[in-house]
Amino acid sequence: MKVTVVGAGAVGASCAEYIAIKNFAEEVVLVDIKEGFAEGKAMDLMQCASLNGFDTKITGVTNDYSKTADSDVAVITSGIPRKPGMTREELISTNAGIVKQVAENLIKNSPNVTIIVVSNPMDTMAYLAHKATNLPKNKIIGMGGALDSARFKYRLAEALECPASDVDGMVIGGHSDTGMIPLTRLATRNSVPVSKFISNDKLENVKEETKVGGATLTKLLGTSAWYAPGAAVSAMVHAIANDSKKMFPCSCLLEGEYGLKDISIGVPAIIGKNGIEEIVEIELDDAEKAKLNESAEAVRKTNGLL
Ligand code: NAI
Repeated sequence: MKVTVVGAGAVGASCAEYIAIKNFAEEVVLVDIKEGFAEGKAMDLMQCASLNGFDTKITGVTNDYSKTADSDVAVITSGIPRKPGMTREELISTNAGIVKQVAENLIKNSPNVTIIVVSNPMDTMAYLAHKATNLPKNKIIGMGGALDSARFKYRLAEALECPASDVDGMVIGGHSDTGMIPLTRLATRNSVPVSKFISNDKLENVKEETKVGGATLTKLLGTSAWYAPGAAVSAMVHAIANDSKKMFPCSCLLEGEYGLKDISIGVPAIIGKNGIEEIVEIELDDAEKAKLNESAEAVRKTNGLL
């Protein structure tokens, strides 16, 4: 498996590091526009190989897409991250041009690639990648829900005072502070509904903390987070490489599922060797349905800025 990661910044490098440590890919190519930056990150990461015991070959290039040829998976993390107080949507004017050009360069060299879009505003960038490449709809996946769900589980575990591995939960909807829908109704601790363990007030608080999870970190770090985003992307790349058929909420181009059309937004999907193997339609209650429609309206509004 050959993986290209465009953008050797915080998220791109973290994702390359997790992929290497898991030791399932033969090659990772890091691409950045900043002269020498990807080469430097690749060299630094390769100097971990003997320490961390991996065989994945990591190389770095400055904007040379010929080196990405025949990639099985490409991850787009290029673009600017938000600063404290900014919304993801405010990044569109800079990131749309970057994502479009990067997606076009990727498919010229790897016509059968599966693309994972990370750059924000992610749902709109995933939609843009569809328009720019015309790849089959299963071949473009937006990463947002995997991260938001991990943050949801972190907050649930904190509130329940239990290990995160004890809880299960999922966030669907748009990858934005207002668009995310943490499905508290379906969250469980070892199959037992979490409402058994915490009050509704506490559960509401978990929901709110989850939705502003990225903003909380941006305030603390001065820029957006990278470890959990990198881990979330690498888990999805691993599911494709291994044909695991693992389910992640992720941004999928919908054609009628959940009553939505011509929009990329976070819904549960099975991920395997073909990218999105299947979109899973779960039964939502009326409030959740209304929230998903509201979230989709907001994504459409951002798409309108393209
Ligand atoms: P960063 O600034 O550390 O790295 C971005 C890299 O992209 C830089 O090294 C820059 O030189 C490079 N770049 C810019 N234009 C390029 C081009 N045309 N071709 C190749 N490389 C180019 O930013 P960070 O923190 O890695 O974030 C990257 C993106 O990911 C941001 O848009 C951020 O908002 C988004 N993000 C999305 C998440 C999600 O859940 N979907 C989570 C975290 C970040």
